[in-house]
Amino acid sequence: MPESREPSPTASVDAAREQRHAAREQQFAAREQQFAAREQQFAELRPLIEGRTIAVGVCAGIASYKVCSVVSALAQCGAQVTVAMTADAQRFVTPLVFQSLSGRAVIASPWESASPADPQHIRIASAVDLYLIAPCTMDMLARLAGGRCDDAVSLLAASIDRSRAPVLLAPSMNEAMWRQPATQRNLATLRDDGFAVLDPASGWQACRSIGPGRLPEPDELLGAISESLRGRAAP
Ligand SMILES: Cc1cc2nc3c(=O)[nH]c(=O)nc-3n(C[C@H](O)[C@H](O)[C@H](O)COP(=O)(O)O)c2cc1C
Repeated sequence: MPESREPSPTASVDAAREQRHAAREQQFAAREQQFAAREQQFAELRPLIEGRTIAVGVCAGIASYKVCSVVSALAQCGAQVTVAMTADAQRFVTPLVFQSLSGRAVIASPWESASPADPQHIRIASAVDLYLIAPCTMDMLARLAGGRCDDAVSLLAASIDRSRAPVLLAPSMNEAMWRQPATQRNLATLRDDGFAVLDPASGWQACRSIGPGRLPEPDELLGAISESLRGRAAP
């Protein structure tokens, strides 16, 4: 009787199991590397961010989900983070998400006040080391350029002395909205007025077009925050 060259059914089951095991080991190793890279990044950010009071204003842009990671990273690096949101921003991400990530109350309306004797926006505005507005919508750019302050995000911006604490705007919108003369005019006004405007990234947009107007990735926003704080006296 000639010997069969076919592997036994048990041998092929064992080989498949080993392959799955090896793939899982590779996934674990890749995840470990990601954790290590993240730890390294936080170790570099911490000296600039730890102990700082940072406000983050969130507007009604599709990219607001990215700002959750920014707030979480700032909190993990030891910043006291207060989030302010426009009413429409709360249609995209709930205040509860930001409250949980920052560990602090979210300013969801200009009418919220911790105490009548201590209006919340003034207290926070005078304490912040930096204010990031991200995503900063086309409408918010127009409101800020016009000096309006009728929502929690612009009211906080209006109350911050920019010679003391930088206000960073991270505009994010569809490329046609980005190219509008009104948007470009407002950006020029805001730069003249002393706001720091972060360039948007270019690429895929949620509206299925490709072009400028993407919110920079969370790591880039964190980099911009730490660069702005570098050289400014820590508390
Ligand atoms: C699904 C959806 C996504 C939107 N994404 C953006 C955006 O990325 N950028 C922007 O400027 N406006 C965007 N808008 C329009 C704004 O949400 C709208 O102008 C809003 O009133 C702005 O509110 P706020 O600036 O008070 O947060 C979007 C609207 C919808 C319905």
